[in-house]
Amino acid sequence: MKKCGFLVIGSGIAGLSYALKVADHGNVHLITKDRLEESATSYAQGGIASVFDEKDSFTRHIQDTLKSGDGLCDPAIVTLCVTEGPARIKELVQWGVQFTKQQKKEFHLHQEGGHSHRRILHAKDTTGKAISCALIQKVKHHPNIHIFEYHEAIDLITTRKFLDPLKKDHCWGAYALNIKTQKIESFLAPITVLATGGSGKVYLYTTNPDTATGDGIAMAYRAGVAISNMEFFQFHPTCLYHPQAKSFLISEAVRGEGGVLIRKDGTAFMKRYTKDGSLATRDIVARAIDSELKRTGDDCVFLDITHKGPKFIKAHFPHIYKKCFSLGIDITKDPIPVVPAAHYQCGGIITNSHGQTSLKGLFAIGEVACTGLHGANRLASNSLLEGAVFAHRAALQSLESPILKSQKIPSIPPWNSGRAKDSDELVLIAHLWDEIRRFMWNYVGIVRSNKRLERAHRRIKILQEEINEYYWDFILTKDLIELRNIAVVAKIIIEHSLRRTESRGLHYTIDYPKKNSSLCSKDTPLGTPHTQAPHKRYTVSHPIHKEP
Ligand code: FAD
Ligand code: SIN
Repeated sequence: MKKCGFLVIGSGIAGLSYALKVADHGNVHLITKDRLEESATSYAQGGIASVFDEKDSFTRHIQDTLKSGDGLCDPAIVTLCVTEGPARIKELVQWGVQFTKQQKKEFHLHQEGGHSHRRILHAKDTTGKAISCALIQKVKHHPNIHIFEYHEAIDLITTRKFLDPLKKDHCWGAYALNIKTQKIESFLAPITVLATGGSGKVYLYTTNPDTATGDGIAMAYRAGVAISNMEFFQFHPTCLYHPQAKSFLISEAVRGEGGVLIRKDGTAFMKRYTKDGSLATRDIVARAIDSELKRTGDDCVFLDITHKGPKFIKAHFPHIYKKCFSLGIDITKDPIPVVPAAHYQCGGIITNSHGQTSLKGLFAIGEVACTGLHGANRLASNSLLEGAVFAHRAALQSLESPILKSQKIPSIPPWNSGRAKDSDELVLIAHLWDEIRRFMWNYVGIVRSNKRLERAHRRIKILQEEINEYYWDFILTKDLIELRNIAVVAKIIIEHSLRRTESRGLHYTIDYPKKNSSLCSKDTPLGTPHTQAPHKRYTVSHPIHKEP
């Protein structure tokens, strides 16, 4: 049993920044299920959006974000996130992040889909790695931050679930599997921060790393925390299509620098769908590619940047150039084969403007949270920004917390494995993983329908029963924990999709192809996920903890 002031779960931009900000005020336990470096943050390419050009303005960044969010952003959250952006970027620079500069002075700014101005700071095409490395260096050298790699949080420890179902609820930390020893450890703290990232692994094809299994959403759901907007799953239009390339992204910045989407016969097709062409927002581009692939029967479309010449391409996109070259594609000479893939979870755990969730003592920051910034479709490169801004705000709020001062953690029972035994059929887990990811891709993907969603819903309910039986009978492994979590997240995505009887942003269904403006009026809290009041839209559950 390990006690501290702050328990941080996850080592992406959100978790690392938060840890650095509170560490001078108490001990931090930072648990992460893989190496410290392994996170979506580390793979980010295009950059981080913020207003740095004097010809740009906060108003324009706010308007672009609202437009992309298609009526469901919370304007107050958008405003605070955009206006606090430059301060957070300066802090990243102070922490050692080296963004690319032009003429060694001003930041070089990328352009991406939906942005009306160049405003994406970047470190060539490996921005995430630059951020992650700098933050990790700081975290490793802070005496109050204790790092636990290969520790996977299993469930939140709450008063109601583990102590007394009738008492006021509070989160007191989490149980976690030590993946190396296979033992389950208790991490206790008056303040717990979920910074577990997204859930791209719910889908068969994704740009996300293996860590993105929606654990934070699933843990919060089981603890009865409010979750919203999970139907809005963003598909990135350009993931490399190659049998040996697992989840390799071709940054939107390539289109920002003039890359054009073409069919295999060389015809550019995006202008047929929108006047913004290849640089329209992601929902529009991904849907257009999906429609082209269905219409032509082709396996992929192509992204052509060859006209910019080898010098420009190698200087701006060295990582993408090298990766493609290693697979036999010379992007200075040939168009890049691409397909859409699941990329970003716009919904999540509902938080207020300080990252507080509906459960006392629990904060959620980064991709796991639904702050109201993204609405129905995230604007490119607003995610790293959100991670940095809300880590800061959550840190300030936590330091004010009265419970932190009293430090009274109740006595918590250790994890009880009961009579669970080793499984002799691990292949079953692999099959279930595959089945869920496949039907999510086929039935709950870019274009949806009632029939497909209902089929997926029937299937996930049956699979969940199977998984739950398995879960309580056998000793926990990483794969089993994650299988249970992707099943929970898949079910939430399906149910939220079924409830949205319109097409908006990333949610497109052939049964309701139009927007329904009554679904985002001020009277319904659909577009204001920062409210804490339980509402029929929110998935709030209070499952009884079923010990074996
Ligand atoms: P992450 O960076 O995903 O970190 C989550 C952490 O939680 C990981 O360390 C993980 O191991 C850990 N974790 C998860 N579950 C558990 C558990 N149960 N127990 C313990 N630890 C756990 N956004 C932009 O704004 N700009 C970009 O250019 C950009 N490019 C991208 C490129 C790619 C290929 C991808 C996949 C995403 C990109 N995004 C980009 C999105 C952005 O990277 C992420 O949304 C953002 O980094 C999320 O940060 P985070 O801190 O919330 O989570
Ligand atoms: C990219 O570089 O295309 C990813 C940017 C993002 O996801 O915001």
